[in-house]
Amino acid sequence: MRGPLLTRRGLLGAAGASIASISLPPLLQAGQPSLRLVAAPGKASLVGDQGPPTRVWAYNGRVPGPLIRARQGDRLVVEVENRLDEPTTVHWHGLRIPARMDGVPWVSQRPIAPGERFTYAFDLEDAGTFWYHPHINSSSQVGRGLRGVLIVEEDQAPAVDRELLWVLDDWRLDQEAEIAPFGAMMDASHAGRLGNVATVNGSVGPDEPMRAGERVRLRLANVANARTFALRFGDLPVWLLALDGHPVPPHQPDGGRIVLGAGMRADLVLDVAAEPGASVAVVDDAYGPGQAFELKHLRVEEGLGQVERPAPAPLPSNPVAEPDLAAAEHRRIIFEGGAMGAMMGARMGEHFRTMRELAEAGRLWAINGQVPEELFRMAPLLSLAQGSSQRVELINRTAFPHPIHLHGHAFRVLTRNGAPEPHTPFRDTVLLGTEETVEIAFVADNPGQWMFHCHVLEHQEAGMMAVVDVS
Ligand code: C2O
Ligand code: CU
Repeated sequence: MRGPLLTRRGLLGAAGASIASISLPPLLQAGQPSLRLVAAPGKASLVGDQGPPTRVWAYNGRVPGPLIRARQGDRLVVEVENRLDEPTTVHWHGLRIPARMDGVPWVSQRPIAPGERFTYAFDLEDAGTFWYHPHINSSSQVGRGLRGVLIVEEDQAPAVDRELLWVLDDWRLDQEAEIAPFGAMMDASHAGRLGNVATVNGSVGPDEPMRAGERVRLRLANVANARTFALRFGDLPVWLLALDGHPVPPHQPDGGRIVLGAGMRADLVLDVAAEPGASVAVVDDAYGPGQAFELKHLRVEEGLGQVERPAPAPLPSNPVAEPDLAAAEHRRIIFEGGAMGAMMGARMGEHFRTMRELAEAGRLWAINGQVPEELFRMAPLLSLAQGSSQRVELINRTAFPHPIHLHGHAFRVLTRNGAPEPHTPFRDTVLLGTEETVEIAFVADNPGQWMFHCHVLEHQEAGMMAVVDVS
């Protein structure tokens, strides 16, 4: 007899009773002689005692992969060994590094063949919360567990009592807690591969112990294939310090809600303004109140007592060049396709193809009317002069939201449907809502060929990707 289908709701309900502490994967410190990542099949206890271990693909046997911690200005050297039976690469999401270290197959490097190694080496210019993952066969490789976080510490860390990292993830598991097959057309044409089990730091359930009165720096990283997370922390005061690693003026987000599309990160300050014994539900309602669920439970223990907390100080800014908005070149990028969209067809290679012909080729999304014939080996969508300022309108003509990511740069988010974006943050990924238009601006100062794509990995692989050339 099979057990009941695993659901987040069911799992979380059952998990509420058991209390365990979070064990973060071991730390890899930059500066160690040999920082090594081995990508290989492994097992992970994603659902804890509510099911068997899950067969995953993992870095150093861990899901999420080892937390890499380094300091701004360090040089990071990581040797990656591929013990999978297919080629892989490692992309350092959000880092502004040389293109040949960016981990994009054929664009920045030859894929790392099974049994081969590749050494990544680059300087860490920016502080912040970043992450790493394969950039080939991404839906399956990332979706099976290959992803980890890279924290780059600023010189002057903010004054907090404690730091916490939550790696937010989403899995589609079957009744035996095995990862469900990849490649469903339905995922590629709709909202991507949404799962049925949400994990924090690689497991469901366990409560997070907090001390009454403490101030915590909480780093959030959404490493899911497709899922957007939108978290609220009950009545606890929450301050946003950084988005995608880049500081914003500390402010309390609208409705206390932190929205992270796939690939995005946020650094928060959370004040545990609650009495010992209190318990605070961390609720995700990204897909509406009807699908809201409790991601985590904060269990407040004895602590510091009531402490008056001023607004946190801003983080020191990263050395990102400020785009010259007046002199900037204007561009428009239109995203089309997918289910329930109006796209009739698009160019693939030289020729216009109907939606049906595209679908037969596994292509469902177009950027400026163009669909890649071969993923990665594409003519550039944009060719930008190195050092030029760019203003780019991103127009979503589809029925789904898309977290749009640009490699090698950070861009300011200027407006959303014409309205100024609060604090015009520097980001590397922007969540483009359904039928929304977002304007971004950046200085094209990192030479090379850079991917520009949707971070819903099933969309990316179904053609929602392009190359931007900076030279
Ligand atoms: Cu996080 Cu092109 O990717
Ligand atoms: Cu998308």
